[in-house]
Amino acid sequence: MNLEQTLREPIAPTKYLWWQHGVIYQIYPRSFQDSNGDGVGDLKGIVSRLDYLKWLGIDCIWLSPIFSSPMADFGYDISDYCGVHPLFGTMADFDELLEETHSRGMKVLLDLVPNHTSNQHPWFLESRSSRNNPKRDWYIWHDGGENGELPNNWLSVFGGHAWEWDETTGQYYYHAFLKEQPDLNWRNPDVQQAMLDVMRFWLDKGIDGFRVDVMWHMIKDSQLRDNPVAPDSPFHADDLIYDHYIPTYSTDQPEVHEIVRMMRALTDEYEERVLIGEIYLPIHKLVTYYGQGGSEAHLPFNFQLLTLPWDAARIASSIDEYEGALPMNGWPNWVLGNHDKPRIASRVGRSQAKVAAMMLLTLRGTPTIYYGDEIAMRDVPIPMDEIVDPQGLNMPELNVSRDPARTPMQWSNEIHSGFSQHKPWLRLPYNSGRVNVEMQKKDPHSMLAFYHKLIAARKQYAALNIGAYIPVYSDQQLISYIRQFGDERFLVILNLTHRPGYFRPRTGSYSGIVILCTEIERVGMSVSGIIAMGGDEGLLIKLN
Ligand code: NOJ
Repeated sequence: MNLEQTLREPIAPTKYLWWQHGVIYQIYPRSFQDSNGDGVGDLKGIVSRLDYLKWLGIDCIWLSPIFSSPMADFGYDISDYCGVHPLFGTMADFDELLEETHSRGMKVLLDLVPNHTSNQHPWFLESRSSRNNPKRDWYIWHDGGENGELPNNWLSVFGGHAWEWDETTGQYYYHAFLKEQPDLNWRNPDVQQAMLDVMRFWLDKGIDGFRVDVMWHMIKDSQLRDNPVAPDSPFHADDLIYDHYIPTYSTDQPEVHEIVRMMRALTDEYEERVLIGEIYLPIHKLVTYYGQGGSEAHLPFNFQLLTLPWDAARIASSIDEYEGALPMNGWPNWVLGNHDKPRIASRVGRSQAKVAAMMLLTLRGTPTIYYGDEIAMRDVPIPMDEIVDPQGLNMPELNVSRDPARTPMQWSNEIHSGFSQHKPWLRLPYNSGRVNVEMQKKDPHSMLAFYHKLIAARKQYAALNIGAYIPVYSDQQLISYIRQFGDERFLVILNLTHRPGYFRPRTGSYSGIVILCTEIERVGMSVSGIIAMGGDEGLLIKLN
């Protein structure tokens, strides 16, 4: 065994927790399964599909927000953190979901949205009612400049200024997202306590952890300094486009780590719960959210596969950079899709999406699957007059609506694809009678069959879920790496292009049997030496 292997060799499989060796599945509740015929998915609907998720091999479901909300941002604007929105059902339905999920040996994560509330939340209603209200300081209020100018140049992620003038009290308040989503002032200890109480409420109920929304936004510069203009932005001062500035002072402030530590300390009072952070930052900053000595998030979400161009050299180097940057005992994780970004099958095409699936499920670390990606759902074209996502509505010229990636799950060729008896809140694609779970379950070549086998292989072989990661070779087309545990060794070769290529490592020679392939005909074949790879091909090889 060489030094590299020794360094990354896991100690013993029993030391690993469910959130390390398991597979997480993100459910967007509005779009998973409708049970009451109103065209919107709900909790009872999710319960009716748990057996499917169990069959697929999922260990944990994460639900996007199900709480009381005016739905300005589809539930990411919460008006009661401890209440269930009637669209999704009741608290009794949630309790049933929790019990049914647990009884099948799966876990449940909820979305915690601590950075901002709805402007209809009682806290904000109080805060805005007068400058003397005890909750005034729960949000970020500011007079603005001497002549009424905005407090600074910060922009909203959804376009436009991030400051909203409030007539009642004659001050501005800050909102990183919609004006209906005022940011809480996390420097205020009462706010901290109130949100920790919310966490406790759900943890006491028995949920298995949280995915924390926009974790890196929670604290802003105390002096509210202007953000700098991004160096290569096509800058026009009146564009008011978020990406034209670097959010140096509005996000990722040093003090945010104290807050994450508080959340982690609370999580640690319970057994085997997990804290996941939504964080879009470059790797060297992302890894700081594991915290000193692992005192912050268990899993700061790693969005490299979601944000990088689909380019073998770029992705190979980012995998290695990430592996190298992880702190001691920092457990890796990988995300291929979510409700905010275009679906993988639309970004890289359906054939290449199989290669991406193999990457997601064979890299070292916890994978998160976005509902529907396992059947290669593509972004659905939504006619302009049907757009409902505020990000899309606010910036129509940029084509950034998130609706296309949030469409109903395609279950079968029944009415509305088995999702609902009623017209769904977002339309289905024309081909949903063909691209759906029912059809793909019968087809051994389907994406679903492939996901099913990949997840089964991960469960069968320790090397694939907790084994060491050893990079082998990459070029402009291919990425390859070994996963190893004890004597068990697998070689993964992925061709990220549509053209054939050659696996020709500069050192070593590898031979083994293909146990999984993007096209099943190659399964069972022996390979060795220089391996010719088809376009859009991925191979999982058990090494001799
Ligand atoms: C991140 C969520 O993923 C996104 O859907 C939401 O719009 C923003 N946070 C604001 O809450």
